[in-house]
Amino acid sequence: MIYPIVKFGNPVLEKPAAKVAVFDGELKMLVEDMFESMYAARGVGLAAPQIGVPLRIAVVDVTFKEDPDAQIVLVNPEIIHKEGRHSQSEGCLSIPDFRENVSRAKIVTIRAQDLNGQFFETTGEDLLARAFQHETDHLNGKLYISHISALKRDLIKRKIRKLVKAGEW
Ligand code: NI
Repeated sequence: MIYPIVKFGNPVLEKPAAKVAVFDGELKMLVEDMFESMYAARGVGLAAPQIGVPLRIAVVDVTFKEDPDAQIVLVNPEIIHKEGRHSQSEGCLSIPDFRENVSRAKIVTIRAQDLNGQFFETTGEDLLARAFQHETDHLNGKLYISHISALKRDLIKRKIRKLVKAGEW
């Protein structure tokens, strides 16, 4: 099932999500739906709050379907190591049509649980490291615009307010 993506302004995006405690068929189904919804929205990462589900789950596929082994499911993820610095243009499905340069760690190691509740660690570089940080932020109620200057952030918020008024958001 394809869920609509929740947009900036919805409070679910700015609240820390709850830990997943039950690893059952329902969770598997939700993760399948998250991949489907992410691909439908042409994204490479999606956090559960973005479909209105306030749980600590994220899916990532930086190859966008090219490599089936590149699908990563992160349940209750935590960043345990960061290295280097890298600035690159970043966007978010919940803030469509906006992009800004965001400085983030270049290499990131994450510790998370899989669909069976098994803990694992994985390390990503560049775009994958960026996705890990962006999605983990989502689960903490944080959006990428919190990493840019207040001036740029206010400009984006102002434009969004206009879009909301025009019924285009
Ligand atoms: Ni996002």
